[in-house]
Amino acid sequence: MPVAKIRIYPDPILQTKAAEIENIDDRVVRLASEMAETMYAAPGVGLAAPQVGVSERLIVVDARHPEGTNELITLINPEIINIEGRIVEEEGCLSVPGIRENVARAQRVLIRGYDLDERQREIEAEGLLAVAFQHEIDHLEGILFIDRVSRLKRGIIQRKMRKLMQETKASKEQGSRLF
Ligand code: NI
Repeated sequence: MPVAKIRIYPDPILQTKAAEIENIDDRVVRLASEMAETMYAAPGVGLAAPQVGVSERLIVVDARHPEGTNELITLINPEIINIEGRIVEEEGCLSVPGIRENVARAQRVLIRGYDLDERQREIEAEGLLAVAFQHEIDHLEGILFIDRVSRLKRGIIQRKMRKLMQETKASKEQGSRLF
């Protein structure tokens, strides 16, 4: 399964509410496997379908990667059923390269969704796994972690991103001059 191209902010698909999946068919199974491979290759601990250009409600999460055993969770149409407590963790996003910020989230969550065998699953998560679920489910609503910091911080982030993008453009130009 090839690794997919990850969409980068400000790609509009990252700011669009994703559609419910109505049939868990071969296409969805293939998409999930491509997303998992893309997440591991990046490497990241979670990925949502809009990040690979598909505006549908599918996420993959493996919060233990890269430290320990793989524990891949694939969820279709995931919903947050309950939240508890508050936690502030540093987050980054494969679609917002070069930026890391502290984000306040719920400390514990109860998530409901479907797995690839069409079984309904409920997953209790806390700490980093809870953060990962909330970050990925945000992606399905068209919300990025940089939308969850203060306006002041967001201004600083946007300037930093413009600078990073200019640097990337400059280095690409250089690359195109190699013979
Ligand atoms: Ni992300």
